Amino acid sequence: MTRHVIAPVDELPPGTRKFLDIDGRPIAIFNVKGEFFGLLNRCPHQGAALCEGPLIGLAQSSDPGEIEYTKLGEIIRCPWHGWEFDIRTGQSYCDPKRFRARAYPVNVESGSAVVKGPYVAETIAVSVESDYVVVDL
Ligand code: FES
Repeated sequence: MTRHVIAPVDELPPGTRKFLDIDGRPIAIFNVKGEFFGLLNRCPHQGAALCEGPLIGLAQSSDPGEIEYTKLGEIIRCPWHGWEFDIRTGQSYCDPKRFRARAYPVNVESGSAVVKGPYVAETIAVSVESDYVVVDL
């Protein structure tokens, strides 16, 4: 597994998402209330760009006439046919046993952990000969 540094946390505030292509896979990273989640940007139903859909909540009912709206901003609705998936897990609320969006783990790490070397710049030998600076390539 290869680590990919996505962005500084400040560039992805709560309620936003960032689209990426990682090793040929279209992926979206979401900031949901300060937590980060990744989803494959391909709907398991018929392949729409799932992560371009609206973020919504989950309407549930325990009794007739009782509706509870939870998980606000944690459910994504596919722009093609409206199937809904939990951003945290990829679970489908339309057909949970057959369909699941591919979810990816996303972590937040300190800058020192992700930018620490060993990075080595290419060096070029420089010498001074009779008051001329000479670069050897
Ligand atoms: S392609 Fe996403 S619901 Fe159909």
